[in-house]
Amino acid sequence: MAKEIFISNQTETLNQDIYRELKYLTECVEQLYPIIVHFINIKANRWEFAFGQNIDKQLMFDAKRIELDKTQGIIIYSVSKLSAKQLGDIQALYQLVLVKNRQILKQYIVYFLQNNVEEILFKFADIIRKIYCGDEIHLRGLIEFSNYCARDCLYCGLRKDNKAVLRYRLSSKEIIDIAKSAMLLNYKTVVLQSGEDYAYSIEQLCDIVREIKQQTDCAITLSVGERGLADYQKLRQAGAERYLLRFETSNQELFKKLKPDSDYKARIKCLKDLKQSGFQVGSGCMIGLPGQTAEIIAEDILLMLELDLDMIGIGPFISNPETPLQSTEKGSVEMMRKVIALVRILTKNTHLPATTAVGSIDPQGRQKVLRCGANVIMPNLTPQMYREHYRIYPDKICVKEDPDDCHGCVGAMTISLGRTIAKGYGHSLKTKRA
Ligand code: 5AD
Ligand code: FES
Repeated sequence: MAKEIFISNQTETLNQDIYRELKYLTECVEQLYPIIVHFINIKANRWEFAFGQNIDKQLMFDAKRIELDKTQGIIIYSVSKLSAKQLGDIQALYQLVLVKNRQILKQYIVYFLQNNVEEILFKFADIIRKIYCGDEIHLRGLIEFSNYCARDCLYCGLRKDNKAVLRYRLSSKEIIDIAKSAMLLNYKTVVLQSGEDYAYSIEQLCDIVREIKQQTDCAITLSVGERGLADYQKLRQAGAERYLLRFETSNQELFKKLKPDSDYKARIKCLKDLKQSGFQVGSGCMIGLPGQTAEIIAEDILLMLELDLDMIGIGPFISNPETPLQSTEKGSVEMMRKVIALVRILTKNTHLPATTAVGSIDPQGRQKVLRCGANVIMPNLTPQMYREHYRIYPDKICVKEDPDDCHGCVGAMTISLGRTIAKGYGHSLKTKRA
């Protein structure tokens, strides 16, 4: 039943986007719980109705006023029908939309990360995804072209100290041929990913990019690690549009422990250089790293906001028996859902993949996060004979399937979610850059 929502002219004081989000949040809350919410503008201690449904007079006796900040509040009618926890969740969600202060926002993020979250957070994140990104799922064909790595990150199976991995490098021709086959499968983006392998010079990478641009109609995303500003500029000029470089964790102490041969500040500088070079930039972190707390994850999310990213890749940490972190616990799908939902609500229109890692810890993992904010999938296009050697973490899905299988599977997944496969390039939804 459609409910009429009355709006007073007091709402003029709210920014249009925020107003729209509050309206959708109110609808979402009213669908899930047997309550009615009125949004209020507070002016010099006077509560002025802003919007909400018409109510019966008797509901006035079962109402609770909640001050969200100095100028905004909500009144919840039939409030006795809510548990204290539900009331807390609802209040915290309104705060996620409204709060600007970093410290206060962090507290609310931590609240969601530390508590069992009910459906409301996921449902609202799904609505925000629909408003800002639509129903399209973007496919990015992943080509893992080299598993050599110059670094020794404690968590990663490609670390140079891991002697158990059979190393491979694809030739330029092989990479270009895979990109061409991707185009035949209707992919509009290929992602060229490798360990930090300096055997490929920038000139060689630029040549590969130029060839792919000439021979296919695909956008190119690179994920080849830390390089300098001049190199990034060359790669951008050669025609690559996007670049992925996760910061992995925003906690400098944890970063130092897990990436002993990298420098946190240098990595953040790379992200700024990438932006300056005109790339659409993706970054992100792992969830469930040993030593990671809810506070640290909240800082990760705030850093994502501050970096104003175009794409955000988040995956659960999965301990790899061939690394020093072999016997540590892996990240949970529940925590992943909360993080994806929070990131969607806070960053609005970023491209957020349902990562292969989340599909690897739970057979329904990708579907679960696609239902609470994610809008991208990255099927693997690496040739069969190399795939099993790109062992960042164990039990990776899709190692046995070939590109056709993955394509079919992702298509079926999309339909079952009531979504569509995007036909365009799926460039950044942020205001266009150079
Ligand atoms: N578990 C999950 N993800 C991992 N990555 C590296 N090692 C692991 C692991 N053990 C992620 C990192 C890296 C991306 C390519 O893979 O976040 O940026
Ligand atoms: Fe590879 Fe499903 S995406 S089989």
